[in-house]
Amino acid sequence: MTRAVRVRVPAKVNLALRVGGTDPQGFHELGTVFQAVSLGDEVLAEAAPAGQFRLAFHGEGAAFLPVDDTNLAMRAAKLLAERFQVAGAGVALTIRKRIPVAGGMAGGSADAAAVLVACNALWDVGAMRDELQPLAAELGSDVPFLLVGGTAIGTGRGVDLTSVMTSGTYHWTFALSHAGLSTPAVFKEFDRTTEPQSTEIPSRLLEGLRAGDAAVVGANLTNDLEAAAIALQPGLEHTLKLGLEAGALGAIVSGSGPTCAFLAGSDAHSIELAEALAVFSGVRAVRRAFGPVAGAQVLP
Ligand code: C5P
Repeated sequence: MTRAVRVRVPAKVNLALRVGGTDPQGFHELGTVFQAVSLGDEVLAEAAPAGQFRLAFHGEGAAFLPVDDTNLAMRAAKLLAERFQVAGAGVALTIRKRIPVAGGMAGGSADAAAVLVACNALWDVGAMRDELQPLAAELGSDVPFLLVGGTAIGTGRGVDLTSVMTSGTYHWTFALSHAGLSTPAVFKEFDRTTEPQSTEIPSRLLEGLRAGDAAVVGANLTNDLEAAAIALQPGLEHTLKLGLEAGALGAIVSGSGPTCAFLAGSDAHSIELAEALAVFSGVRAVRRAFGPVAGAQVLP
């Protein structure tokens, strides 16, 4: 049996997030374009005696995270053990966090995706990625994308994925907020203030991605949840404005927020954006990353 497996997993940013009506379970129909970015977490899965499931976090926001069954990472390990009837399953998980917690970059979902991949290898389950996808979808709407990575359109709850043809590398600067936002709270605010709308993805965005034209991509970034996130954290409006004044090709709240994402024209430009954003007291920290990158991967 394998003794330890290390997995790297990316964060995501939504280049488009269109939100429609709700299904009977209260989930919204989405039309979204995900991109996996190089800001990521790392999961170490080590062999543990049968029935022992342990979880520990280090790094960004570690102190705020539960380590019991309410954590999606723990649920991912137990779900895999149960569905594949792994005899003697046990694992000690240690997660090094870089993705902001409750930040709109799918940090919790990323960890769950990484745990599926890590435990699949640790326990020699031998499941193919396709076989992990239904478990991922059960765990959360962003988890399936973080297994595959790259750039992809997500429809339905966000779990029906089609990969998107892209050219080039996109340079991002992220502005992290002092406080997190709860995704259900942002959707609730959206419902309170907005009529269900079309989930169509702007064709110009897809054209820009295909051509590798960052200026076109930047001009066509769109997020239907942005107004709701700003209503709950009004300072985000100023953060977005600062990035645009510093020459960002596009500025957007990432997913349900509150992290703000800025598209830069080059690596050097993303440093300039980071410097301009870091001075605002409403910004806790800045991070730079590039995309697209692969989904959860076992490290050698
Ligand atoms: O799927 P996940 O658990 O990540 O979703 C978190 C919350 O986001 C849900 O409980 C729901 O409030 C909201 N959500 C939604 N429609 C989606 C995805 C998420 O309303 N398609």
